[in-house]
Amino acid sequence: MSRVAFSHFDDADDQRSSRLRDGSTVTVRRCIAADEPALRAFLQALSLKARRLRFFTGAVDIATAAHLTAATGPDRLGLLALDERGEIVGHALCIELDPSRAEVAVEVADRLHGQGLGTLLVVQLAVLAERHGISRFVAEVLADNDEMLDVFRDGFDAQVAWREGVEAVEFPTSAWRLARERYPEVVRAP
Ligand SMILES: CC(C)(COP(=O)(O)OP(=O)(O)OC[C@H]1O[C@@H](n2cnc3c(N)ncnc32)[C@H](O)[C@@H]1OP(=O)(O)O)[C@@H](O)C(=O)NCCC(=O)NCCS
Repeated sequence: MSRVAFSHFDDADDQRSSRLRDGSTVTVRRCIAADEPALRAFLQALSLKARRLRFFTGAVDIATAAHLTAATGPDRLGLLALDERGEIVGHALCIELDPSRAEVAVEVADRLHGQGLGTLLVVQLAVLAERHGISRFVAEVLADNDEMLDVFRDGFDAQVAWREGVEAVEFPTSAWRLARERYPEVVRAP
């Protein structure tokens, strides 16, 4: 089956503003190839711990990681969260695995952890993925990444199973509605 889920993405210019728990506003928009330099700076500024949790090694080559995460194509969809100054404070990416499933990953600036941004990004990605025929999100999460597992479990009722050294996470993209019910102060209707 061809990888076409995101190829006719018609809402590339769509931007959404949301208020985080601390009262600050973020704007979420689609990530494009031109965002690579800013994405590199964002990833570079993450703590060593955050980089390890996201890329499974603290020694990740940031230039390569930024290139890969900013890459566009019909099989992937990336979202950026920008703060009030226009700086990247969060990024989420899903990559199609087969016509109904995509792998999701997210990272949030260290100073904004716990403000609802990770949940918000997964919700907005799930809304778009569902619209484009992806019915399930999967993720591989390190066992000590409680923050990520909490986001997936608490917001989306994700199933988590230990598999080949990582926590294998799976949930329906439709579960964004659960997260919206649970965190109405951050997650608004699409
Ligand atoms: C995982 C991550 C994306 C979560 O983003 P976030 O914006 O902090 O998530 P949210 O604010 O939506 O928080 C969700 C829940 O986790 C809790 N939480 C978030 N960060 C926490 C922390 N550092 N310690 C304890 N709890 C935390 C929040 O309190 C919240 O709980 P609640 O819903 O009961 O209030 C973020 O911690 C991160 O960027 N980590 C490094 C990169 C990474 O691990 N990526 C995952 C790759 S698969």
